[in-house]
Amino acid sequence: MEKILVIGAAGQLGSELTKSLADQYGAEQVIATDLNESARSKFDFCRFEVLNVMDKDGLRNLVKNENITQIYHLAAVLSAVGEKKPLFAWELNMDSLIHVLELAKEFKLNKVYWPSSIAVFGPNTPKINTPQYCVKEPNTVYGISKQAGERWCEYYFQKFNVDVRSLRYPGLIGYKSLPGGGTTDYAVDIYHKALAGEKFDCFLREDTSLPMMYMPDAIKATLDIMNAPREIVKIRSSYNLAAMNFTPEEIYQCILTHIPDFKIEYNPDFRQAIADSWPDSIDDTCAREDWGWKHDYDLARMTKDILENLPNFKF
Ligand code: SER
Repeated sequence: MEKILVIGAAGQLGSELTKSLADQYGAEQVIATDLNESARSKFDFCRFEVLNVMDKDGLRNLVKNENITQIYHLAAVLSAVGEKKPLFAWELNMDSLIHVLELAKEFKLNKVYWPSSIAVFGPNTPKINTPQYCVKEPNTVYGISKQAGERWCEYYFQKFNVDVRSLRYPGLIGYKSLPGGGTTDYAVDIYHKALAGEKFDCFLREDTSLPMMYMPDAIKATLDIMNAPREIVKIRSSYNLAAMNFTPEEIYQCILTHIPDFKIEYNPDFRQAIADSWPDSIDDTCAREDWGWKHDYDLARMTKDILENLPNFKF
């Protein structure tokens, strides 16, 4: 029987993925962990433990004592926060991954999941339909840590037979958690401001196209790759993954069709340079061919769903 440990469970992805894992494996088979005790209230459906991912011994004890068979390692410092604290971001993002991979090797875990990102790409990467294999020269600490992390994942798979799987997520948009310090998080915040009747102050230029994905698609992709038979997961660094691309002006126009008096102002800041270094759109043919990836949500469908559900959601 599988026993699942989710690290960084209270973050944007974990807040939704942990529930899906509990549904799949049974709530008693899932342990959610996060840095903050205050996250406990989110996890009334499964066990919750406070865990600092940098606490190597604490993490090891949990894996050993609870007979963990799979780890979902979701804790990370994202792009915008990482630029404010580069060495902290590097240390947290890299050391925690190495701890997890080492534990997977030592305890012969069945599987590990670790998210990568479009941030592995950089200014010299082809921007349109960015291929799976191409120049990657990321210029954010977050991107550098994700690129190095991908190499470590493949290394542990090849040298130590660790079954680690990974996706290069586009900007993820969900309404069940608040924005978490990413460059793409403007596309989360904009819905909160629109519903609060406030003007949205956008930190990116109106024409900045970025690859994005609605959270239900991200959850589906994550469960699909983790449930796929080992031999069809051919890429062991990380898979390109795509659903939609849009600019701030396009998401604004889409929200306007529901909330006609919504206002936006564009005041680009340091995050513009981060966004400019990332692709406009992604070619995810490998994910579609290898394990049957298919997205469900486009901008219009996502917007309708968020505007209908966010007002009733309790944080
Ligand atoms: N959403 C992330 C960020 O903006 C990218 O993976 O930092």
